[in-house]
Formats: sequence, structure tokens, C-alpha cells
Amino acid sequence: MGFQKKISVLAMAIALTSTASSFAAEEAKTDAKKAGAEAPKAWMNKKLTPEQRTDLVLKEMTMDEKLKLVFGYFGTDAPWKGFKRPVESITQSAGFVYGVPRLGIPNLWEADAGVGVASQGGPDVRGATALPSGIATAATWDLKTAFAGGAMIGSESRAFGFNVQLAGGVNIMREPRNGRNFEYGGEDPLLAGLIVGEQIRGIQSNHMVSTLKHYAFNNQETNRFSLNANIDDKSARMSDLLALQIAKEQGNPGSVMCSYNRVNGHYACENDYLLNEVLKKDWGFKGWVMSDWGATHSTVPAANNGLDQQSGIPFDASEYFGAALKEAIQNGWVSEERFNDMARRVLHPMFEFGLVDNPVSPNVKSIDFKTNGLVSQKDSEESIVLLKNDANLLPMAKFYKKIAVIGSHADVGVLSGGGSSQVYPVGGVAGYRGGPAVFPGPMLYYPSSPMKAVQARALESKVTYNDGTDAKAAAKLAAESDIVLVFVNQWTAESVDVPNLSLPDNQDEMVAAVAKANSKTVVVLQTGGPVLMPWLSNVGAVLEAWYPGSNGGEAIARVLFGEVNPSGHLPATFPASESQLPRPVLDGYPEVKDARIEVNYKEGAAVGYKWFDLKGLKPLFPFGYGLSYSEFALGDLKAEVKNGLINASFSVKNTGGVAGKEVAQVYVSPVTAQWESPKRLGGFQKVDLKAGASTTAKVTVDPRLVAVYETASKTWKIAEGDYKVSLASHAMDAKATSVTVHLSAATLDVNGKFVK
Ligand code: NOJ
Repeated sequence: MGFQKKISVLAMAIALTSTASSFAAEEAKTDAKKAGAEAPKAWMNKKLTPEQRTDLVLKEMTMDEKLKLVFGYFGTDAPWKGFKRPVESITQSAGFVYGVPRLGIPNLWEADAGVGVASQGGPDVRGATALPSGIATAATWDLKTAFAGGAMIGSESRAFGFNVQLAGGVNIMREPRNGRNFEYGGEDPLLAGLIVGEQIRGIQSNHMVSTLKHYAFNNQETNRFSLNANIDDKSARMSDLLALQIAKEQGNPGSVMCSYNRVNGHYACENDYLLNEVLKKDWGFKGWVMSDWGATHSTVPAANNGLDQQSGIPFDASEYFGAALKEAIQNGWVSEERFNDMARRVLHPMFEFGLVDNPVSPNVKSIDFKTNGLVSQKDSEESIVLLKNDANLLPMAKFYKKIAVIGSHADVGVLSGGGSSQVYPVGGVAGYRGGPAVFPGPMLYYPSSPMKAVQARALESKVTYNDGTDAKAAAKLAAESDIVLVFVNQWTAESVDVPNLSLPDNQDEMVAAVAKANSKTVVVLQTGGPVLMPWLSNVGAVLEAWYPGSNGGEAIARVLFGEVNPSGHLPATFPASESQLPRPVLDGYPEVKDARIEVNYKEGAAVGYKWFDLKGLKPLFPFGYGLSYSEFALGDLKAEVKNGLINASFSVKNTGGVAGKEVAQVYVSPVTAQWESPKRLGGFQKVDLKAGASTTAKVTVDPRLVAVYETASKTWKIAEGDYKVSLASHAMDAKATSVTVHLSAATLDVNGKFVK
């Protein structure tokens, strides 16, 4: 606290007596109330608006009660810090905040994260349903699936006794080596924003609050506590912030979690630009900003620059929003108005999303894990991307006599990502297989074995497993088999980035040896994000299954055998080499603890495919890419401009022999105007078609996606001129068709609404 405390003491000496006496009066008033008869709780009247109810209850609160709302604890013992969780918190949970029971304001019980109800490691973890990773859900390109997954994990969260889910991760993929890409929605602001927004909306449909996180530019884990991300306002608003803005609009999160890192010189959790200006003023965010666990660094700057709630005591250096905040308020360093605003912001979503009216009452027995597992499985089945399928090796025929299953512990389960988002499976894990013994480990497998699911579908076949650690033994089994299913993985986790995009543990060598021994090799990837595939030309088929969640083995087998036609499309570019990236070498790697490194986002808003387009680079697989067991024809593209908006319509025909789903993608490009890169994703539609069937679909392009943000006026400007509207099945589709529309010059406000 040091410096803070000195300021506070000095301020106390010069404090205005009027401030002090107004607090004394307030305390006296409430003390009397506490002692006397209960006041009628007018704020419990559901007919009033959340604003009215918040104002009413706020008036009744003492200073100490308001202080409780802005101060959060870790929900797990931290013996190395001498910390014991509050007794009211839920064991091995992320967080806890005291409410004001005498006024009917509940405690906040906070659970991580985006793929399900996570547990901090320890003896008492809860078994819950895990969705496939966030990037997998983005690969579905399907908003309904995203909503359903959110609704499911939200319902489990409530049943476990939580009312805040620390979900909504939408840090766009600037850095494919980021250890947390698996928690996020990929590289495109529109896709990531919409998908994560829908997950948030789903979670909040359960009378609970979801966060949107990590605000902002927490795009790598290396030096995450100390790095400074440098980016100009214009680029920021058209990339990372746009993803967050779209997710906020789509999902209406009750809370936003500010991140660990610094942004343009200031910690994200005391960053006036990010919190006060962009989030609260420009975007009109009415909920509360909570810090990430250990991301608060001060009292007065943090409170005045927009942080509403310190989280995760004991992770910060000091209890900045405890006694120090009280002093700061009493001394006028943080105004009463601002203090009330902090408390109001916590209370408002509690009324808005029904936390006050629907107190949690834990009922774990009510959870239907079987049905929830199927929700997760559906998400996974929609997310698996078929990257290669030579000579229609897939779907797999059932007549193979000898099937080899190799690698990645496919005999027992499927991999999950590590860190605070770790969901422990119902009924216990499939077995620990390496990784760190403590956070962000251990490396954990869900007991949904792809091998068993394969065997169950190929009853006449002999299915043999080899663990893949010895390339020679694996190749021998491959040579003796009729078809080979080789499972490879890349475990990624919070707090660590991967050093490079190669598969670890000699898996590339193993796949190469296996493919050499048997050309009928199908590679199934379980990765957190993009990886290199040096063996690609020698294998028959490749499926990207991400971390496929609770029922992942089943989902993979269903895709392998064609019970499900793959329909996932990449939400991020897979580079051909790291030299193609804006930062060929990861900044700060290998990590020197607490190094105050500078990360310069010199690529600006040209993230992912935009960077590849701009530089004319050919990736391994482009953004938006994904094959099917069927074929589709996209056509009849028409585009018109109505009220300044581009509306595109087109047909999609399933020209193949089986039912399937296509993700039709609409890209927009300026003919004369200058953007950060040649084109942007303007919209998309996933359509489900029987063999031979066709349909028409429509996309309306968000006008921000044909505009350029102007910092001085805080507006988006559409330049007058021609724009190409293209229909494609991925970002580098040579078969894309285009039409041209003419747009008049227009100005949009900071939230994308036309102003003239
Ligand atoms: C740190 C992580 O960055 C954040 O995502 C998580 O919600 C908190 N810890 C709480 O576990």
C-alpha cells in the first residue's frame, strides 16, 4: 500500500469537515434503521426498472455495506499466502463478494469460466459438463449452438450455487502462440464478437451475470502481468476493441473483467481510456468492471479511472478497495459520487439479470449431466473442421478389418486446456498425462475415449492402440493396419504460451513415420489453436477437433464415420510458418519474470487473415476454411444498399450426395478507399441442406465493417465509392464471386449508428 497510504493520511489531515460529517450522518441514520423496525423494501418491487430499484436500495446502504460490494475474495484457500476463503464462498471456486443480506442483496458467488463450471485444483473439485473450447465454438460459426452452450453451462453454474460466471473471453488472436487462444473466439472481430456474445446471452438467461473478458489486449500470456501493449486508438477500435464491442452489444454482459497487462503505458484496471472513455462513456456500459485476480495496482487511480470492484483477494499486493478506499473516499480523493457509481454498477446488473429476485439455491442433483453432455457434443460436432480428405478417405468405411488408433491417450479420453478455466469432468478424469503438477496443470483428459467410440462403431474390426511415444512402434502398427487414426495434441494453458507452432513431444516425427508406413492415415488434431503440419502432404485426411469437451470422443467418432458431416470452419488462419506472423518471434519469450516488455502491435487492425492478405502471404489453411463430406455451390450473389446498409443475398446448393452444412461467408473490400487490409468479413450464414437441396440466404453488413474509425471525432466514416461484396467459402477462396455496390459518404457514431 505504501504510497497510497501516505496520500490517504495526508488527505485525512486536510479533509473537509463537511464530507466527514455527511458520512457520520449517514452512518447514524442507518444504525438507527438497523436497530429499529425494518423499512419496507421498495426496491423489491419488480415493477420498477433496474435503475429505480438500484437507486432505492443504494440510498439505504451504509458506506461499509457499499464497500463490501466492491471488494472480492478468492473462493479457494491460498495457504502460501496465509489466506483462507470466506466460509460463505463455494469450495475451490474463483471468487466471492459479500452482499447486503439485510437489504435482500445476495452475495456474489463467482465461477470460472467460458467452457463450463471450473474448479480451482485441489481435493474437492466439482464434476461438471465441459463444452468444447471457446475457439471450437467459434469454429461452429453457429450462433444458436453458442447460445445453447452458454445456456447449458449457466444452468449448471446456478445449480452449483453460483450467480456470476467468469466467461466471455474474447481476446482476438493476434498471437497464435497465446496459451489462452483456446478460451477465445479466434481472430475476426465480427465472428468472435457474435459467438462470444451469444454465449454470454445464453449464460445470463439463467438469472446470472456473465463477464466479458479480458479487457483488453491480453493477447499473450508471456509477461502478462507486466507487458505493455502499444496500439493506436484507430487500430484498437477496429480490431480487439471492436470484437469486445460487438460481444458487449450481442451479449449485454453484466460485468467486464479488466486484464493484467498495461495498455499504452497504463494498467488495464486503472486505464482511464479503456474503462471510463471507451467502455463506459462511448459504449454506454452500465454494469461493473471487476479486476482480474491480481490485476489491481492502486486505490485512487484505479477507482477514479474506472475500476469498480477489486477481485481475488489475496492476489493483489494490497487490499486497495478495502480500508484504503474508505480512507480515500472520506478524504475526498475518490468522490462520493464515484463511490456510489461503483456500488450502483454492481447492483444494477443484479436487478437487471434477476440475481436479487431469484436467489441461488444450490441443487446439484437437479443437473441432468447426460442431456448437458449432448449439448456439449453437438457443439463439438458442429466445430470439428475437416482440413483435408484425399480420395474420400473419410467418412470411414466400416469394412476395415484392422484399425490402428495411435497417440494422444485416445484409448482413455480427450484433452482439455489448462488454467483457471479447467472444468473437471463428471465421474472423474480419464487419467493425468504429464503437464505441470500445479497450476496451470495438470494436463487433464476427459473420459470420452475416441478409441472406444470407434470400436463401438466398427464391431467387426480389430482396433489396436499404440501410445505413439515410439515412432517406430507406431509405424509398425500402421504398416500392419488397414487404416490408421493418429491422434496428436498440443496442450495449451493459461499463464504460458507455446514456444512455437510445432506439435510437442516429437509428434510430427511420429506422424511422418506412420504416414510413410500407411498412406491411409487420418490425423485428428486436438490443439488450442493453429499448428504447423510438416507431414500434411503425406497423410490422407486431417480433422481439427480442438479440445472437444465432455463428449469429445463420441463427437470425433461420429464425424469419422459420417454420422455427422463435418461443418466447422477455421476461426483463425493456420500459418505455413512462424516467419509469416507480424511477430515471428514471440515477444518476451523465453519469459523473464516481471519483465516490463513492450509489445508493439505494429500490424494495427490487420490481424489474422487481414495481415496475410495485406502481405500477400499464403497460409497453410486460410481463415474460414473447412471441408465437408458433401459439396456446395454458392451463387446468385446480389447486393443492394438500403438505408446505407449493404444487404447481400445468395443461394447455397448442396451438390453432393449427403446432407451437410455450409458456412457461406460474405467479405467486403473497398475499390478505392484505403483500409488496414484488402478485405473484411462482413457477415456469414451457416445453412443446413439435404443432398441436392438449395436455399437462399441473406446477410446485412454491420456498417462499421465498411467504415474506418476516426479518433478525433469518435465516429466511423464510410468513404463514398465502390465496394466489392464477395461470396466465398473461406478468406482465400479462388471460386469467390463478387458484385460491386456504391456507397455514399456517411458518418456513424461511435457505436455504429448513422448520424447523417
Ligand atoms: C485469472 C484469469 O485470467 C481469469 O480469466 C479468471 O477468471 C480469474 N483468474 C479467476 O480465476
